[in-house]
Amino acid sequence: METKVAINKRRSIRKYKNISIDENVVLDILNCGRLAPSAKNRQPWRFVAILDKTFIHKIADTIIKNFSEEDELISKQLLNANPSVISTANIIKKAPILILIYKEIHSYWEISDSLSIGACIQNMCLRACELKLGTLWIRDTFYANNEILKLAGIDSDKFELSSALLIGVADEEPSARDRKPLSEIVKWIK
Ligand SMILES: Cc1cc2nc3c(=O)[nH]c(=O)nc-3n(C[C@H](O)[C@H](O)[C@H](O)COP(=O)(O)O)c2cc1C
Repeated sequence: METKVAINKRRSIRKYKNISIDENVVLDILNCGRLAPSAKNRQPWRFVAILDKTFIHKIADTIIKNFSEEDELISKQLLNANPSVISTANIIKKAPILILIYKEIHSYWEISDSLSIGACIQNMCLRACELKLGTLWIRDTFYANNEILKLAGIDSDKFELSSALLIGVADEEPSARDRKPLSEIVKWIK
């Protein structure tokens, strides 16, 4: 599949078929993440690949448990956004594969490493799309970052969770979400 086709076809998938994915396919996708560019070639990404459905459920429940009324208020009042956390957690519960993407805590490299991790995750989304698999990039894990790392046996004093990624066979075909037109976001200097 051409890169441009994958870029156009990729969607966030929030409904998955109950079909398991071969471990080699997961490795192939992780490898494409591994090949992403990174600031100073630091390759800050670390992965936990979770295929165990009970464990995936546990992570979703942990997110729900840690999302407090205060978080909900902040989200509504300050960010002017309806919190999506509970719905994201319910989507996680039905996903066949959950990848945790985490990195070492390092204040100096914080922004560079996070940008690098974005490139890594997008590589994985595009490769999954090419393999006819759906993905959902998740940051609502934020409310339970440390708890999720602890569940996975990772030292939350040293590492932080950047994002999670669901992978599976899509059970929906969402249409493309709106994008701002180029005319609104590009300034030319000629
Ligand atoms: C950094 C990041 C965090 C996201 N977190 C969530 C999330 O927690 N829950 C969710 O349902 N979607 C999440 N998304 C998916 C976005 O909502 C989605 O990419 C956006 O609405 C555009 O839709 P599309 O991916 O289908 O083009 C996230 C996407 C990104 C890039």
